Amino acid sequence: MKLKDKVAVVTGGAMGNGLGIAKVFLREGATVAILDYSDRLGETINELGSLGNVCGFHVDIRDVKKVNDCMKAINDKYGHIDIVVNNAGVAKLETFMDMTDEVRDFHFDINIKGTWNVTKAAVPYMNGGSIVNLSSVTGPMVADSGEVAYATTKAALIGFTKGLAAELVEKNIRVNAIMPGYIMTPMVEGIAKDTDSENPQSVVDGIASGIPMKRLGTIEELGELAAFLASDEASYITGQGIVIDGGSTLPETMSVGV
Ligand SMILES: NC(=O)c1ccc[n+]([C@@H]2O[C@H](COP(=O)([O-])OP(=O)(O)OC[C@H]3O[C@@H](n4cnc5c(N)ncnc54)[C@H](O)[C@@H]3O)[C@@H](O)[C@H]2O)c1
Repeated sequence: MKLKDKVAVVTGGAMGNGLGIAKVFLREGATVAILDYSDRLGETINELGSLGNVCGFHVDIRDVKKVNDCMKAINDKYGHIDIVVNNAGVAKLETFMDMTDEVRDFHFDINIKGTWNVTKAAVPYMNGGSIVNLSSVTGPMVADSGEVAYATTKAALIGFTKGLAAELVEKNIRVNAIMPGYIMTPMVEGIAKDTDSENPQSVVDGIASGIPMKRLGTIEELGELAAFLASDEASYITGQGIVIDGGSTLPETMSVGV
């Protein structure tokens, strides 16, 4: 129970990686407050209720006032906030020259400013603890065509993580980032459908074949890393981006080797 008695805020926990994080956090003894704008939130909270103490706030992280109100409500209810996982994020593949400013801002407003809003609202209620930001290998390390906006935001979150880690060390708050490769989530299902609406599974299979472990990661595997970074087991780690990608960024070439 590495998160026993900890109060954790997880954004985007109605599905995908955030759901995996919430599940592992509950198993590890944390109280979890999920912020999400999806209609699936209620169903998810019902499902997770059997695992532990969990509550949900239907909120768009772009809405500063509502985000501030949420953090106050969480603090009023539980007395403190120990962990923030900035997981909510969006990805829409479009080439740079075709992308409208609206689509660019959709990424910037949620992935960067939303993370900023949630963090700024939560820190005053934290007395020590841990912040975990969902970056990606996309942006800081690699990219494919169509990912300029998304990659820009995920690289920005590494800068955000390091800058904040340097400042919050004084408050005994550690700040780290997770850099996933492909994890099987509704986001990836959506990308697969957009790429080949007739046969999205072929897109997922194609992704898997290019990964040394020959599969996508699971939301639970992602949740385990988040729990480690959020816990006291990671007490000397701050300002870092940790890659979890089944080896996808590992190959030096595709043509040399025995
Ligand atoms: N799945 C992957 O392969 C992968 C890889 C690298 C990084 N990531 C990152 O992991 C995070 C989660 O991704 P996922 O694949 O689970 O996505 P997902 O689309 O499957 O789930 C995202 C969740 O965030 C919520 N959300 C999105 N925008 C929101 C907003 N403005 N306010 C409140 N809630 C909002 C959605 O409703 C949803 O529940 C993202 O930051 C993503 O960039 C995912």
